[in-house]
Amino acid sequence: NTTWHRVGALADLPVGDAVRVETPDGEVAVFHTETGIRAIANRCTHGDAELREGYLDGETVECPAHFGTFCLRTGEALAYPAIEPVATWQIQVDDGQIYLGGR
Ligand code: FES
Repeated sequence: NTTWHRVGALADLPVGDAVRVETPDGEVAVFHTETGIRAIANRCTHGDAELREGYLDGETVECPAHFGTFCLRTGEALAYPAIEPVATWQIQVDDGQIYLGGR
């Protein structure tokens, strides 16, 4: 049973932008990609950098610290030195509002 938390208005998160959300289960980075809203753990599994500040490219994000990359859909680490995946989070968009669910 998923509890949904409102992140904010879709209109306030333009395509290409990301926002950090604090949850009881940790920090989440919410991205607006060209194909939709995606949410992954904000901290890189390599060295704790904030993925929210990374370079967004399609469905991937490149860590700003050492350029490891992650898939925003699956959380999979795609490029060294990132090896461990990041958690992904459920997202819903309803009536112009973004909601974050569970992992
Ligand atoms: Fe992200 Fe090193 S902290 S690749």
